[in-house]
Amino acid sequence: MTSRKPRNAQRSKVRRVAVLADIHGNLPALEAVLEDIDRQSPDEVLVGGDLVGRGPQGSAVVGEIRRRDWQTIRGNHEEYLLSFRKREIPPEWLYLEEWSAARWMAAELSSEDVDYLESLPFSAGSNSVPTLLLTHGSPVSTNDGLGPWTRDAKLDDLLDSINESVLVCGHTHRPMIRQLKGGLVVNVGSVGLPFNRDRRAQYAILSWDGSGWSAELQQVEYDLEKTLTAYRDSGFLEAGGVTAELLRLELLHAAPYLVPFLKWAEAVGTPAESSSLGDFLDFYEPDEPLRDFFLRLKGMFRGAEG
Ligand SMILES: [Fe+2]
Ligand SMILES: [Fe+2]
Repeated sequence: MTSRKPRNAQRSKVRRVAVLADIHGNLPALEAVLEDIDRQSPDEVLVGGDLVGRGPQGSAVVGEIRRRDWQTIRGNHEEYLLSFRKREIPPEWLYLEEWSAARWMAAELSSEDVDYLESLPFSAGSNSVPTLLLTHGSPVSTNDGLGPWTRDAKLDDLLDSINESVLVCGHTHRPMIRQLKGGLVVNVGSVGLPFNRDRRAQYAILSWDGSGWSAELQQVEYDLEKTLTAYRDSGFLEAGGVTAELLRLELLHAAPYLVPFLKWAEAVGTPAESSSLGDFLDFYEPDEPLRDFFLRLKGMFRGAEG
């Protein structure tokens, strides 16, 4: 015997999946998002990597995520800090100032944290809905970032390369929802260090209604001053040198500073150290699109060759 299901049974098929990523050792931002997730009560929560790195409370963040037993994948910053712990790094990273923050953050992790981070897979699916794939960067690499600038053709190629119809990612700290021919691509943004000029902690909730997906970006206010206090009180700001200061500026402006500084120092031929920071800040406009900034740098390289 067969029976037609009533309409409200169809509605009960709705599954909501919260995805957060790029927490970057920012415990107050994570706590605010956890509270928001509790309130919204999704069916499932996934964590998209970069729990650690670029912030002082990596161990505490790992502890919060671990005890919830959510599916969690690794990001490039897990890979960096694990390389430091295993000493699988170029020898100069052990003394150059630009790596002092990474040395501090790697040392801050407990051996249990390290074991947990080493166990994290490259990608994960959803337990409740089989058509979703979570990767940190893209299905190609933890460092292959997808953002609002990524062309539709590339996103379609990536969707073609996977079995799922929804690709969810983080890494670029730039949230986006893109509907394409082959499915949906969602970048959930960053909990702890957004680069979209919005200082609030950000994540996403995806909904499956039995036939299709939709996504909604979430923004949560948190006490940034608490994070800045952790920067100072933990000793990170002092020990982390120019890198910790650049991360502090990223937090304050919700814009990238660290990578532009490193690229600028390379172009100018100056050491990536605190002594160069003032000149960089004179040169850098955080509101300028990064593409334009890199074009200005390219012009400087050409000038040097000429
Ligand atoms: Fe990140
Ligand atoms: Fe990343």
